[in-house]
Amino acid sequence: MNCLPVNNPDWLVKKIIKMGGTISFYDYMNFVLNDPINGYYGSGKAKLGFRGDFVTSPSLSDDFAFLVGKQIEDWLIQLKSGFLSNKKLTVIEFGAGDGSFMSGLIKYLLGSSKNFLKGVSFVIIEPNKGMLEKQKNKLEEFLNLGIEILWKGLEELEENNINGIVVANEVLDALPVERITFSKGKLFRQAVSLDKKSCKLFFDEMPIPSELEKSIELAKNELGITIPPEDVIEGWTTEWHVDNSEWLKAIYGKINNGILLIIDYAKDAKKYYTSKNCDGTIVSYKNQKMNTNVLDSPGNCDLTSHLCIETLINDAETLGFNTAGITKQGEALLALGLAERLYGIQQEFKKDLSNAFLRREALLRLVDPLCLGDFKWFVFNKFKAKEVNINSTCLL
Ligand SMILES: C[S@@+](CC[C@H](N)C(=O)[O-])C[C@H]1O[C@@H](n2cnc3c(N)ncnc32)[C@H](O)[C@@H]1O
Repeated sequence: MNCLPVNNPDWLVKKIIKMGGTISFYDYMNFVLNDPINGYYGSGKAKLGFRGDFVTSPSLSDDFAFLVGKQIEDWLIQLKSGFLSNKKLTVIEFGAGDGSFMSGLIKYLLGSSKNFLKGVSFVIIEPNKGMLEKQKNKLEEFLNLGIEILWKGLEELEENNINGIVVANEVLDALPVERITFSKGKLFRQAVSLDKKSCKLFFDEMPIPSELEKSIELAKNELGITIPPEDVIEGWTTEWHVDNSEWLKAIYGKINNGILLIIDYAKDAKKYYTSKNCDGTIVSYKNQKMNTNVLDSPGNCDLTSHLCIETLINDAETLGFNTAGITKQGEALLALGLAERLYGIQQEFKKDLSNAFLRREALLRLVDPLCLGDFKWFVFNKFKAKEVNINSTCLL
């Protein structure tokens, strides 16, 4: 048993006691991120950006949304001129954080395709009320201009009815994961238990439920992933993304003709499930500091884990999505004109030096291979007609 020092809030202690003193890691992650009153996202205490707990690409500056906006605009134009000329197009953003991406995207489209914008509606799918309020504040100026931005639950969208683009930037990495751990020659489901005397949390083990076992077996058979790795060591632990396929299935069902862009931290299976990667990828972020003790300060920091590239693609393709391609963020943004934007900042240095420095730093961080530049862009699509051919600059 691995006992870790923590400052456990009462609300979590009560929940764990109510559930018998031990919960799965999945439930722990779900509570600390999404509890509507105390969770990091549920309560809305998540702070993104340079001055927050961690940066996401859109929270750095509008440049990211402008560059992705170029791709989205191009896809929308191809859809409209190709085969959806009489259909209203929709751009859906999942997990919109503080609203920075949607705000930047609409700014970009207002500047470049104002007339085209009339035929497009925007939808945000955000289950956490605390974040939703931030988004409404940020986007108020566009709502006041009469731009259609709707907040909906995924279940409110009609089946097979979405024509357009679906974007999820750094959302799947925040979905709760199961963790599996190797102990005394066997795999277990990682659990979190409460020591009643000290009120400290510690990692514990539970038997693996049959559904989880089935999904691991399936990945082993279909993708040749070896879990645990042959040279596994005692205590080896990894993440298992149990919610991805249901999430993809729900979106697949809603799309009539459309493109799904997922941007996130991701690793190849052969690097993910090795004995070297003995504690998985999950970490927490608070005040721009990464912490590998994910039981520390529950509800007050972000928790994030890398996706596995092969399992995500397999989940998507099993449902029927076509994979248009995968690329690294750095390469995608350069193809979309990041270098030109960087060059364009020269002019700004004469007018507003501090803003120009901030923008330059933000642009460089977006392509830094040790940082956001290594994020993966997954482009999936679902088209009714097989012969549809859509070009994607970001994949060039
Ligand atoms: C790391 S933040 C990313 C925010 C934003 N996309 C960005 O890049 O700045 C994760 C976001 O996903 C939301 N989220 C969590 N679970 C979700 C789910 N099941 N569906 C949609 N959004 C979710 C969180 O509330 C939060 O807004």
